[in-house]
Amino acid sequence: MSTLETTLTPSSSLEADAKTAANTPASTDANPRKVFVKTYGCQMNVYDSQRMADSLAAEGYVTTETPEDADLVLLNTCHIRERASEKLYSALGRLRKLKDKNAAKGKELTIGVAGCVAQAEGQEILRRAPSVDLVIGPQTYHRLPQALAKVRDGEKVVETEYALEDKFEHLPAPQREVVRKRGVSAFLTVQEGCDKFCTFCVVPYTRGSEVSRSVAQIVAEAEKLVAGGVREITLLGQNVNAWHGLGDDGREWGFGELLYRLAEVPELTRLRYTTSHPRDMDDALINAHRDLDILMPYLHLPVQAGSDRILKAMNRKHKSDDYRRLIERIREARPDMALSGDFIVGFPGETDQDFEDTMQLVRDVKYAQAYSFKYSSRPGTPGADLPDHVDEAVKDERLQRLQALLNEQQYAFQDSLVGKKTSVLIEKPGREEHQMVGRSPWLLPVIIDNNHDQIGDIIDVEIISTGTNSLVAKKLS
Ligand code: SAH
Ligand code: SF4
Ligand code: F3S
Repeated sequence: MSTLETTLTPSSSLEADAKTAANTPASTDANPRKVFVKTYGCQMNVYDSQRMADSLAAEGYVTTETPEDADLVLLNTCHIRERASEKLYSALGRLRKLKDKNAAKGKELTIGVAGCVAQAEGQEILRRAPSVDLVIGPQTYHRLPQALAKVRDGEKVVETEYALEDKFEHLPAPQREVVRKRGVSAFLTVQEGCDKFCTFCVVPYTRGSEVSRSVAQIVAEAEKLVAGGVREITLLGQNVNAWHGLGDDGREWGFGELLYRLAEVPELTRLRYTTSHPRDMDDALINAHRDLDILMPYLHLPVQAGSDRILKAMNRKHKSDDYRRLIERIREARPDMALSGDFIVGFPGETDQDFEDTMQLVRDVKYAQAYSFKYSSRPGTPGADLPDHVDEAVKDERLQRLQALLNEQQYAFQDSLVGKKTSVLIEKPGREEHQMVGRSPWLLPVIIDNNHDQIGDIIDVEIISTGTNSLVAKKLS
């Protein structure tokens, strides 16, 4: 899986760890408290880490790049697969040693665990790792300052009750300078939680039930981001297209309508969203892809499996042909759409034929890019109690075959772009002098030589060749 940075990465490049470059403004305090935030998991966690850093900035904390330099270390964790959550305990082992070393020098280190493992394991984390001072779940981040005050008074704090109040009303917005430092592409969470209960998945238990933010809140945040220099916003949600809310016109809006509204935000030039569920791709959303130039032609639409028997056992509530038809309609609306997906191999009871059905679906759809995982049994989910768990060796073999096919499709997609004229949003300087790196509409990074454009500019280019996970382009004058 690719390393997740605070730039765009499809939601399912999970488990990648990223130090949150959650910049905070210089403190006026000569000796400010320092926080190091480490983010595991999906983009929702990247966004949350930024919001936690914003809320700590309001308390006088500045961020630091190393745990050694920090007074507070926050690990923002992921519970999606066993390997993801075990990462927490190895990180905590290292932090315990650092805490002891600091204590010997008379320096205090507070250790906080946030995110989906915090929500799922709560008190258990304190039992397994007594050096932890604070465990805080994703629904209670706005209470972080109060929780830290209790820790300073010598308490061990576990905050995992679902809050009744709206955390977004209480979390401070980032300052303009902070937005600027985070770059021209930003995340904006519009929806949280999940009511779908796929039988393999922990998300409904770690993130709670579906909650949508209001149109007013979302538009205000988008405008703030744009005022800070952001040109591209990726709307986030565990099921982002399940978003719904009261529109400006007093009617109930779906996600498609929200996109039309956001397309009106002045100076916002690109919109993306992730992750979507096939069942929530309605006509308004498909039409938005036909009508809105601002909406980029990249869609992450996980299907998980191609066998109807397995889809049913997963509780996905759609058949593989429903998905095929949906893809057809989306491609009719937006012929240059790059499709991405997630796949699980080795779900309990998956036979060779079931797996072949997944391979066939992939051949039929033709993905531009996709993520695939071996099924990981998660305690507390219905899948864990199913009979006929698949052998690791069989899972390995299936994953290899699936990934070979997906890689082939990815290269074919990239090759199909050579010779195309398109636009690129400039994001940062390249590795070499006279190089800039930007984003193509299809999310792939683009390297441009001899470029004198500014970060945030959108320029016209022609794609001239492809790299492993990138494109090379020349500017068109
Ligand atoms: N809400 C999104 C996905 C969220 S989780 C959706 O409905 O598609 C991201 C991905 O992790 C999933 O799409 C799935 O492919 C994978 N995943 C989730 N639980 C898993 C498990 N127990 N084992 C292996 N992969 C899993
Ligand atoms: Fe998990 Fe399914 Fe919800 Fe996606 S839709 S978050 S896979 S339960
Ligand atoms: Fe992981 Fe939680 Fe995201 S389990 S994938 S961090 S919603």
